[in-house]
Amino acid sequence: MNANENQALNSETITRFIGKKRLMWIIVGIVAVVVAAVIVIPTSIILTKKKTTTTDVRSTTTLSTTISTATPTAITTEPSTAISLETSATVSTEISTVQPFYKNWIQTNSMNNPRIAHTASVLQNGKVLVTGGIGLKSAELYDPSTATWTLINPMNHKRWWHSASVLLDGKLLVVGGEHDNYQCLSSSELYDPVTEIWTTTGSMNSPRSQHTASVLRNGSVLVTGGHIDHVQLNSAELYDPSTKSWTPIANMKYARKWHQASVLDNGKVLVTGGLTNSAELYDPSTKSWTATGTMHYPRAGHTASVLANGKVLVAGASLGDTCMTGASPGDTCMTSAELYDSETGNWTITGSLNNGRTGHAASVLINGSVLVCGGRAYMFYYMSSSEVYDPLTKIWYMTGDMNYKRYQHQSSVLPNGTVLVTGTEEQGLPTSSAELY
Ligand SMILES: *[C@@H]1O[C@H](CO)[C@@H](O)[C@H](O)[C@H]1NC(C)=O
Ligand SMILES: *[C@@H]1O[C@H](CO)[C@@H](O)[C@H](O)[C@H]1NC(C)=O
Ligand SMILES: *[C@@H]1O[C@H](CO)[C@@H](O)[C@H](O)[C@H]1NC(C)=O
Ligand SMILES: *[C@@H]1O[C@H](CO)[C@@H](O)[C@H](O)[C@H]1NC(C)=O
Repeated sequence: MNANENQALNSETITRFIGKKRLMWIIVGIVAVVVAAVIVIPTSIILTKKKTTTTDVRSTTTLSTTISTATPTAITTEPSTAISLETSATVSTEISTVQPFYKNWIQTNSMNNPRIAHTASVLQNGKVLVTGGIGLKSAELYDPSTATWTLINPMNHKRWWHSASVLLDGKLLVVGGEHDNYQCLSSSELYDPVTEIWTTTGSMNSPRSQHTASVLRNGSVLVTGGHIDHVQLNSAELYDPSTKSWTPIANMKYARKWHQASVLDNGKVLVTGGLTNSAELYDPSTKSWTATGTMHYPRAGHTASVLANGKVLVAGASLGDTCMTGASPGDTCMTSAELYDSETGNWTITGSLNNGRTGHAASVLINGSVLVCGGRAYMFYYMSSSEVYDPLTKIWYMTGDMNYKRYQHQSSVLPNGTVLVTGTEEQGLPTSSAELY
């Protein structure tokens, strides 16, 4: 069945997901790498000789560059935009003594099914439940004690770009997303880890995909925005686990997709970005939305992490739709990051990422630092790089590269503090690889 599911990914779906100009951009990429090899390697050898004591140099050299091509739409990066290009092995061996973090990522067993735009949730028993992904009903569990994956009963629907939330009673609520042919779903289903059974639960009032889902303190689940047939939604609704029903609530002030929602320490929910720089707060006690400051940049495909000090760290993203969809291949993604202070409602710029990225994953580590990994820098430039934000110094430090380049993957913090990263796509197809940080 799983093989069938994979075959059922019709070519239109994949073509649309990957974009039609991939081949062209691969050619452009090869040209760019050749140009880079001619220009960068001699430059970086010079730079490296000057900087052999600098730990952050690694085997990459950052330079500002403009790439022009003879194709109809030329790639033109902002002059200020940094592009990292891998340099030769000769360079990295010169500074290999300062790379202790290179082994931070280790591969673990691969999932049974290749997945992208799936979900991964840490259950109350410490296992990680992964659901769906493009063209899939299938679900599987990762057991950290044995590092093995086990297929469980499949969901009732194929879903990707859906959400999954662990409810207070330990069940998993899976909501919306897209079926084949980009058809958005309104249905939701519950997985009970004790009986190992999926049950269809209520349907939302609107189908939606690329929405957010947040578990409120009282156990209800707040779902916001997303899109239906590529039209962004401002609607929001609440799932009540006791009645298993969905109720629409007041609309948000802005329609959003590829946005984020974070449950603050005070129980309110901060919704950020989604092709806009606006932010708004849901207050469960009044069931109302209030604007709360404005981010310095519009963001889509960013991450939002609640820090131990209660602030929210928003990192990366594309400025608009284009970096996420690849509609404008020359777009590069942002390095900028900012902090939301829930006491004042202020947004403050904090240290910038070393690599601009969107569609990356972020995890708050048990020591309070934030790990981000993967994502894409522009069009089809997927990244394996990862970096860690220190809330005290407000600086992002490069850490090891993952074993695979990843985009629209998932990261989960296991009970012992290790981070499990799953899925991505390669050569236009989802992959099943998983690794640990
Ligand atoms: C945490 O669990 C992972 C997955 O089973 C394992 O590979 C890793 O060694 C564990 N880490 C520690 C510090 O126990
Ligand atoms: C949780 O609070 C919301 C108000 O934000 C309310 O509508 C909902 O019924 C409450 N849920 C439960 C389970 O009490
Ligand atoms: C942050 O909020 C405080 C209190 O509301 C205000 O006095 C201050 O000017 C704000 N700072 C910025 C940078 O907006
Ligand atoms: C937390 O752990 C990460 C990963 O081991 C490390 O890179 C980071 O420096 C640590 N942060 C702090 C504040 O100690």
